Amino acid sequence: MLLNASGCLDALTAPEIARRLDGFVTKTITPLPREGNAAPRIAETAHGMLNAIGLANPGRERFLSEHLPRLRELDVPLWISVGGFCAQDYADSCAALEDVEAIELNLSCPNVDEAAESAAEIVTVCRAATTLPLYAKLSAAHPDVAAVARAVADAGADGLSLVNTLRGMSLDPKTLAPVLARGTGGLSGPTLKPVALAAVHACFAATALPIVGMGGVTTGQDALELIACGARHVALGTVLFSDPDAPERVRDELNRAAEALGVVHLGDVCGRAHRSEKPLDIAPKVAA
Ligand SMILES: Cc1cc2nc3c(=O)[nH]c(=O)nc-3n(C[C@H](O)[C@H](O)[C@H](O)COP(=O)(O)O)c2cc1C
Repeated sequence: MLLNASGCLDALTAPEIARRLDGFVTKTITPLPREGNAAPRIAETAHGMLNAIGLANPGRERFLSEHLPRLRELDVPLWISVGGFCAQDYADSCAALEDVEAIELNLSCPNVDEAAESAAEIVTVCRAATTLPLYAKLSAAHPDVAAVARAVADAGADGLSLVNTLRGMSLDPKTLAPVLARGTGGLSGPTLKPVALAAVHACFAATALPIVGMGGVTTGQDALELIACGARHVALGTVLFSDPDAPERVRDELNRAAEALGVVHLGDVCGRAHRSEKPLDIAPKVAA
């Protein structure tokens, strides 16, 4: 299943892109409206994109009364990303949601200062607040993301979303001052791919939970590698800002990359990187 990564697609302004996905994931919604951080809050670097949006969103009430009804008209399965600053914030939002595909708990935004409670505590109270599928979105910045994955699995999460951005900084070469008004931002794009592969690999081995893999996916090969590490679904993030055709392109490339390896069902590749069978490479060997 191909999704967008939270915050990387506005389905109400680009519905035709959302309809090309198997599900649309909203920007993270917090209980109260947020303006987000001061500008500049986006910076291009030679290594990826930095953003310090700061969870700008209309807040839960407006989201539920204005945005959600319009999103439902798209007729695309909806994943609602939920954020907050204490466990009860998350639980209240979960309790207010019904008739959506899944809830993604953003437990890993690097662009807000307020300290959140531990991931497992938040999942525990959310589990009590809803029967909807709960995906815990984790950060690879944690020194042992697999331990966090096990803790949220024990707390009742139904799945994992991996990975969020990593905190980074870029300086203006003329002034040597940080480019972003906030100083730091979340690094995303191709540079994240090896980090995402390692996190998905570790969490697949640590839990039996389905995983939405993301981080630097720009090609079908990237998606295939995330699936091989254990992702059941793949999400497109930063690539959507530069290539609105990425959903079809990545899907086609993924199918072709799998075919080239002789794979009939993509599901057969899930977790392939963990198995020590003979290599999938079926290219004919040319005699020297
Ligand atoms: C501009 C921007 C805004 C984002 N906003 C959110 C957000 O609101 N909630 C969230 O969980 N992740 C957010 N993310 C992180 C992405 O969902 C994704 O985890 C990350 O960008 C890695 O994927 P990528 O390298 O394909 O972009 C945002 C990323 C970007 C670039």
